[in-house]
Amino acid sequence: MALSAAKCPSSSSSAAARLSLGHPSLRSSTLLRPFPNSALARRVPSRSFKNWNLSVVCKQEAGAVPVSSSAEEAPSKNVENGGLFGLSSEEYGHAIGLDASERESTVSITVVGASGDLAKKKIFPALFALYYEDCLPKHFTIFGYARSKMTDAELRTMVSKTLTCRIDKSENCSEKMEQFLKRCFYHSGQYDSEENFAELDKKLKEHECGRLPNRLFYLSIPPNIFIDVVKSASQSGSSKDGWTRVIVEKPFGRDSQSSAALTRGLKQYLEEDQIFRIDHYLGKELVENLSILRFSNLVFEPLWSRQYIRNVQLIFSEDFGTEGRGGYFDNYGIIRDIMQNHLLQILALFAMETPVSMDAEDIRNEKVKVLRSMKPLQLEDVVIGQYKSHTKGGVTYPGYTDDKTVPKGSLTPTFAAAALFIDNARWDGVPFLMKAGKALHNRRTEIRVQFRHVPGNLYKRSFGTDLDRATNELVIRVQPDEAIYLKINNKIPGLGMRLDRSNLNLLYASRYSKEIPDAYERLLLDAIEGERRLFIRSDELDAAWELFTPLLKELEEKKIGPELYPYGSRGPVGAHYLAANYNVRWGDLSASETT
Ligand code: BG6
Repeated sequence: MALSAAKCPSSSSSAAARLSLGHPSLRSSTLLRPFPNSALARRVPSRSFKNWNLSVVCKQEAGAVPVSSSAEEAPSKNVENGGLFGLSSEEYGHAIGLDASERESTVSITVVGASGDLAKKKIFPALFALYYEDCLPKHFTIFGYARSKMTDAELRTMVSKTLTCRIDKSENCSEKMEQFLKRCFYHSGQYDSEENFAELDKKLKEHECGRLPNRLFYLSIPPNIFIDVVKSASQSGSSKDGWTRVIVEKPFGRDSQSSAALTRGLKQYLEEDQIFRIDHYLGKELVENLSILRFSNLVFEPLWSRQYIRNVQLIFSEDFGTEGRGGYFDNYGIIRDIMQNHLLQILALFAMETPVSMDAEDIRNEKVKVLRSMKPLQLEDVVIGQYKSHTKGGVTYPGYTDDKTVPKGSLTPTFAAAALFIDNARWDGVPFLMKAGKALHNRRTEIRVQFRHVPGNLYKRSFGTDLDRATNELVIRVQPDEAIYLKINNKIPGLGMRLDRSNLNLLYASRYSKEIPDAYERLLLDAIEGERRLFIRSDELDAAWELFTPLLKELEEKKIGPELYPYGSRGPVGAHYLAANYNVRWGDLSASETT
């Protein structure tokens, strides 16, 4: 991990140099080998191409330096005949007299499902932010791919609407935007058409200009077409001599079986190390910081066990409903949407043993061990809720089933609270309480660690009967207003002996002037660099589903009705009873947090 303050600190500098050796169908048999003794090699003595002006035969990215600048020797006839377009880029590179080891590389990023919401709101803006921060490689091209007909110019107009300069007064922002947009292109095609992906491949080659081509596909599409796209992209659009990687977004199935089927489907065309399963919560600054907090501070790690920690709470709340996303959401519900992935991933990072190193495989090995040490969820350890319409201050907020995209009478939970346990020596008996809900009173994600009471506390009389009020609590607020604070007891200054609960507070906005990057920026950069630490491995995914699948099946088979809670409230009362079963109070609802 980079601890230096480079302008664009990469997650792993060595990762950039690593070449991913892909699935046989995606790998070139000539990977990094000298130009094969092919017909072409005999046809064209490679030196004669050395001084070609490649901008004639390939679409040079705006602002990039041409490989060569002399046009005189360009055998234009050959170019007109499309002489070089038929070549693999390795052949192409060799044709201009460069060995693979000498060739510069380029990255083509194809956003599949380019006209969708995620692409518009998150992916293109994140790519622009990376470009703005000089984090993208020198040579890169971005392609949007979707079914709708669109020109390059129309894609640029669409993309430009959601690009923002992260820092208000940032210099040359509009100039940078213009340069960025010039590198964005569009190709319209069907998701299951190898022919259409072959056309894309041709366009990508034109932009790759004979450089070592690396290709990243971001699947911002519904899961039912993942396999079609991966099949077509791998057979017609993968890099022949560089790496090919595919980023997939959740949902990764609905349960153990469908998830396993999806993994099998993807692995027909891709190797595991080519699949980058995104959980964007792992890209959030404070989630990434969890390991730093634990493993680089002597004061925390010794406390990180059942000996000192009474319970851990993982809380996600949003102050808006499904609003238009009901079609997707109703098929999944809050447990699959938030708990099985975002909150469980945080839990695994929080609870894992010290990894051998910060390498991706070492960290993911530890996370899998935690997940495999957990008990599958039991119905009695879960409370589900659904928001109903509520009128406040003359405004009526719709209930979940009022959403036109939601089927009438739906029982899908929009809220859930659950108690989970890790059966290992470190965490035996410690409840990990999760709570996730939509249309609640605030938007917040946090991790709360409640410590045990101080044994034989000399000051217990000053706390009255409520010892809970006097326990230490560490809060890691993931969003908004990122912060880490520790609740401690302190003497109120003066001659008396009155104690006070106070916070040792690290509020990011006061401590750090730099804007916190969006999770997608970090994750896209990692995928480009081949850093897998923040992506989910297939065995992690299987273990995560095993914990939730029996419960989800039972809820659905028994048609268990959710407890209704008003839009904008603190959620169903059942969540309090659930916590009380384990002698826990939700920290986010304590008086000091809600005032
Ligand atoms: C997504 C869920 O994964 O995360 C959404 O599908 C949720 O339902 C979103 O709103 C929350 O992400 P963030 O980054 O806005 O907290």
